[in-house]
Amino acid sequence: MIAIANDHAGLPLKAEIIALLNEMGLEYKNFGTDTPDSCHYPVFAARAAHAVASGECEFGILLCGTGLGIGMAANKVHGIRCATCSEPISAALSRRHNNANMLSMGARVIGPEVAKEVARAFLTTAFEGGRHQIRVDMISALERGEDIE
Ligand code: RB5
Repeated sequence: MIAIANDHAGLPLKAEIIALLNEMGLEYKNFGTDTPDSCHYPVFAARAAHAVASGECEFGILLCGTGLGIGMAANKVHGIRCATCSEPISAALSRRHNNANMLSMGARVIGPEVAKEVARAFLTTAFEGGRHQIRVDMISALERGEDIE
């Protein structure tokens, strides 16, 4: 199950991402917003991020104007590693090396075809583990307020 959420600025990309998820045969849960009315992206980031952090959803895709604000908000939820990406190489590496569990993108930054390639790269790349697991564990320790040196 993939969580999807966006603000008003991200809304134009949502139909494209949903079409991709359908094409890939992936189920999704839509956490809004679904109107073009101006809204506050942290609200929608939090809804989707909590669904990912709780295990209800395996991954999440977030959309706002830049992908930045909604990604920053998601990263404040414990257990979330959200990567803001505008091209597929970073999206794939966010999975392979950082075990990212959420992807954010900006509808004012990239067009629908690039956004779909970025999302596809994110959703089809596995975490490599090994030395990268040690580093991801250190990120989690920082999140818990632990000293990692
Ligand atoms: C909304 O105008 C815009 O600020 C928001 O979508 C996002 O780009 C913030 O990071």
